[in-house]
Amino acid sequence: MAYSQENKTILITGATSGIGKEAACYLASLGAKVVASARNKEKGSDLLSAYKEQYPNGQGTIELVEGDFSSLQSIQNLCEQVKTSYPVIDTLINNAGVWKMSYQETKDGIEETWQVNVLAPMLITHSLIDLVKKSSDGRLVFTASGLHKGVVDLNNPEMRQSFSGMKSYQQSKLADILLTRWLASKLEDTGIGAYCFHPGFVGTSIGRDGGMIMQKLMKLAGMSPKKGAETLNFLATEPQENLVSGEYYVKKKVKKITAESNDMEMANGMIEKGQTFLADYIQSDLFADLVVNT
Ligand SMILES: NC(=O)c1ccc[n+]([C@@H]2O[C@H](COP(=O)([O-])OP(=O)(O)OC[C@H]3O[C@@H](n4cnc5c(N)ncnc54)[C@H](OP(=O)(O)O)[C@@H]3O)[C@@H](O)[C@H]2O)c1
Repeated sequence: MAYSQENKTILITGATSGIGKEAACYLASLGAKVVASARNKEKGSDLLSAYKEQYPNGQGTIELVEGDFSSLQSIQNLCEQVKTSYPVIDTLINNAGVWKMSYQETKDGIEETWQVNVLAPMLITHSLIDLVKKSSDGRLVFTASGLHKGVVDLNNPEMRQSFSGMKSYQQSKLADILLTRWLASKLEDTGIGAYCFHPGFVGTSIGRDGGMIMQKLMKLAGMSPKKGAETLNFLATEPQENLVSGEYYVKKKVKKITAESNDMEMANGMIEKGQTFLADYIQSDLFADLVVNT
């Protein structure tokens, strides 16, 4: 069932390709004002054209905000831009992600997977949670992955000495699940839900760092991005009384997963660690004023 998203403002990151692009267009078609992050103007305007083409009778709009998550300053600027332009965010979707095959550093000198997949969602959620608190149906959605595995190495999350593209990606996706559970526990009884999901194996550009062959294989073997966006669309639109905050969803259903993904001690450690990387960008403790009264 498609629920109207009229009067909703939905912020989605990683909206210029793959799963995020499909979701942005679908959610706008239901009447939402979708605020889509783009790191590249050309891809931003491609998204707007795709929306018009795919949903000529779409009820809502897509507006672009600029940000490259390989720069913490750029993330900060994006959040400031959002705060100036939008009084409320009903749904905040942290979807942008990378899968790097080799150790690469961002403009901040931080390993890229750790920054884009973990620190960016932390900083964005921290910066914009006040806008989500203003919604009567506030929700946070994180794109995780079935590849989540292992632990978050709190001493060496960037894997500086022994980088593995697979392990780094697995760790980052476990971190996204821990972040979801941690936020859900802090937001309990506030009316704001936090959810994460695995989209399935989807033929997108996530494997681009692995070269043309990997990309072609993914596109051939993976499901379509439209199909891959279904659980994201579900979590963004389903009435929250039908959802369980803090849970990990696959094919629109809660899936029970590893003990590590429920390890709240590890989640606390990860938040503390994240804060050390983000120290220049946050004035108070990360999420210090998270708990709100309803
Ligand atoms: N595909 C799968 O099988 C699969 C499975 C499980 C989970 N996921 C997760 O799904 C999410 C979406 O990925 P996808 O599969 O749709 O891949 P995708 O087609 O590569 O899309 C990734 C999105 O993230 C954006 N992004 C990457 N680095 C960025 C940066 N530094 N700053 C700002 N935005 C950045 C990309 O922007 P550009 O368009 O500018 O590159 C793009 O919009 C990711 O979190 C991924 O880990 C995917």
